Amino acid sequence: MRKYLIAGNWKMNMKPSEAKVFAKQLTDSIKDVSSDVIVMIAPPFTALQAVGEAIKGSVIKLGAQNMNDNEKGAFTGEISADMLLDVGVEYVILGHSERRQIYKESNEFINKKVLFALKKGLKPVLCIGELLEERESGKTNSVLKTQLVEGLKNVAKDDMKNIVIAYEPVWAIGTGKVATPEVAEETHKFVRDTLAEIFDKTVAENTIIQYGGSVTDASVDGLMKQPDIDGALVGGASLKADSFTRIVKFVR
Ligand code: PGA
Repeated sequence: MRKYLIAGNWKMNMKPSEAKVFAKQLTDSIKDVSSDVIVMIAPPFTALQAVGEAIKGSVIKLGAQNMNDNEKGAFTGEISADMLLDVGVEYVILGHSERRQIYKESNEFINKKVLFALKKGLKPVLCIGELLEERESGKTNSVLKTQLVEGLKNVAKDDMKNIVIAYEPVWAIGTGKVATPEVAEETHKFVRDTLAEIFDKTVAENTIIQYGGSVTDASVDGLMKQPDIDGALVGGASLKADSFTRIVKFVR
């Protein structure tokens, strides 16, 4: 049976000193979360160590927001998998739409990171999603299929148990425009069917597919009731303890 994964993507928010206090607060408010829900928070790089220490011994897992695809060396401004592992990171968000849009990351580049993360024993959260004009012109499915086929190229079937897919319609991220549960479910079903095509039905059935894009404590329950939605990647609402706690404790 698939678990749910609720993840907080803090983006470029929270100084290490603030992050430490906030993470400690979360360990307390989230300690009685249901056993079928995995909780992960992804602070900025500078706060990873402090947050890692604050959540030690709690149910919360540590995630990073990006990673370089090389072992080490002359890559100014980049962070390696070993550096992340050394501070206790388990998950790494890859191909977030802000990386794709602002920093022009391609499917091919994201695929290199996915493969490298797997090789290192990190669990990639591969983000996919269509732009508003792509949805409006009926291209959603073909865009998502390309992102999946190219992003998961050369991933072994057996490694899929360590990959999470985050479906995040770009038009819903940070806009307050959450996809309706029905629209999100229809797309999640397509993503799952595509995983069955690329790999097989068992892989598709076992893969966690999160929804992301303006998820709040008000919208989470309706989304999580859908059969193919297995959690949420939460930006803005993950920065407030009460809303993130309520999201983690969603009601189905
Ligand atoms: P949002 O961000 O919840 O603020 O829309 C989600 C994300 O970008 O992962």
